Amino acid sequence: MVTSIPNKKPRAITNIILHLHPQSIKKDALVFNRTFGLGGMAALLIVIQFITGIMLRFYYEPFPQQAYDSILHLQDNVLFGQLIRNIHHWCGVFLVIIAFLHLLRVFFTGGFQSSRKLNWIIGLVLLILIVFSNFTGYLLPWDQLAYWAVTVGTSLLNYFPVIGEGIRQFVLAGDDVNANTLIIFYNFHTAVLPILLLLLMAYHFWRVRKAGGIYLPKSNEVNIMVSTYPNLVYKEFIVGLVLVAVVLVFSVFLNAPLLAKANPDVSLNPTKAPWYFAGIQELLLHFHPFVAAFLIPLTIIFLLTALPFINYKEEPSGLWFHSEKAKQAAKFTAIGSSIITLILIIINEFVPDFEILLPWLNPFVSNGIIPLIIVLLILWLFYKYVSRKFTLSYLEIIQTMFVFITTSFIILTIVGIFFRGADMALTFPWNL
Ligand code: HEM
Ligand code: HEM
Repeated sequence: MVTSIPNKKPRAITNIILHLHPQSIKKDALVFNRTFGLGGMAALLIVIQFITGIMLRFYYEPFPQQAYDSILHLQDNVLFGQLIRNIHHWCGVFLVIIAFLHLLRVFFTGGFQSSRKLNWIIGLVLLILIVFSNFTGYLLPWDQLAYWAVTVGTSLLNYFPVIGEGIRQFVLAGDDVNANTLIIFYNFHTAVLPILLLLLMAYHFWRVRKAGGIYLPKSNEVNIMVSTYPNLVYKEFIVGLVLVAVVLVFSVFLNAPLLAKANPDVSLNPTKAPWYFAGIQELLLHFHPFVAAFLIPLTIIFLLTALPFINYKEEPSGLWFHSEKAKQAAKFTAIGSSIITLILIIINEFVPDFEILLPWLNPFVSNGIIPLIIVLLILWLFYKYVSRKFTLSYLEIIQTMFVFITTSFIILTIVGIFFRGADMALTFPWNL
């Protein structure tokens, strides 16, 4: 049963808010740790990217001869130029992290099933668009970091069978990063991707409303409705203020990187892909490129897309991690997966890999199939152990395996960003 507390008539400012929110919402939806406001934070960051992006456009020139100098001019001669650039840089970083955390929160509270299936897929597309927005933006400063990170990032496409090389040449409009690449990236970055992001985001919000708000645990008690303004709006405002404060602190104290002007003849050592591809680049050190840059990433994207369509044999409870028992299993798995991933990375660093140990085998088998079988075997053994230790339901087992894979990917990414030095050898961050 639903009872409602009488609402006051909305005032002028609340009319705008009511385009985004219904007039009243369930009281349970207000509990902060149901969503941590992550979806709203992602939306705010995109708005900040639009505003700062348009400001940057006034000074930026998308041609190799001028691009780098236009950034220098912006930083040195334009009032708050450096600050605006820093805000745009840090919001880009935070956006990937926050959208990813939002994905995790939706998954772990079971908000991706029945009427929310399509919204999960739209969310995935939004995440991909955010990564592409970051990637296309990365090239624009036209410094060494930009040039070589995009060179390495796009070279991952080479490992796609048959069409990979063709796609890479199409994306770069040539064999290497060049003037045409810059103009293409610029147009995608400042026109195509922002428009797609805006349209899909609006549709995403509409679907949240159409599903009757966020997914909540079933309760036997009466579902009390409260007016959105001020109950939800004040909370969103506080979350927004804290986020803006964090962005400003970062932007005041940490400048967006800018190395020397791009030089196609002098590569960096190590040459790293942008940080959100560091996990894939790390995999390349351990597996045959076909497995690392094609098979594993595509399987993960496929699994993420398939998640809402699996028959879980029960409805998620809506509680975080479904049940207390599954929460314990998730914690155990996160720790287990971190330790196993780290051990495998260290072993692979100091023990010769199968390509050297078994030189008579085709590298695809020795460096691709064999390590993959080992990893799948570990995953299977872990699954057997955890499901017996915690006696989990089908839904909880899938969640636990999700935790295993996600944690492993996060560890690979952290190692790739902070612990790989010259020639991609393991090192400590302070030696980088
Ligand atoms: C989700 C949206 C966006 C993301 C994630 C994003 C991300 C980025 C990133 C990571 C950079 C490189 C910054 C650096 O130097 O470190 C960049 C640069 C740039 N972006 Fe965006 N951006 C977004 C939207 C926009 C929009 C809407 C515009 C303009 C309409 C824009 C205009 C620019 C310009 C002109 C630069 C070059 C200046 C510079 O590199 O400092 N961006 N963007
Ligand atoms: C631009 C990025 C995104 C924005 C601005 C955004 C925004 C939002 C907002 C405001 C909500 C409702 C409140 C909340 O959960 O905080 C929501 C819910 C939802 N989002 Fe996103 N989201 C984004 C990306 C994603 C991603 C990457 C996924 C997952 C793949 C996703 C899937 C969903 C789903 C399924 C819901 C409904 C959850 C439920 O009913 O409990 N979204 N999103």
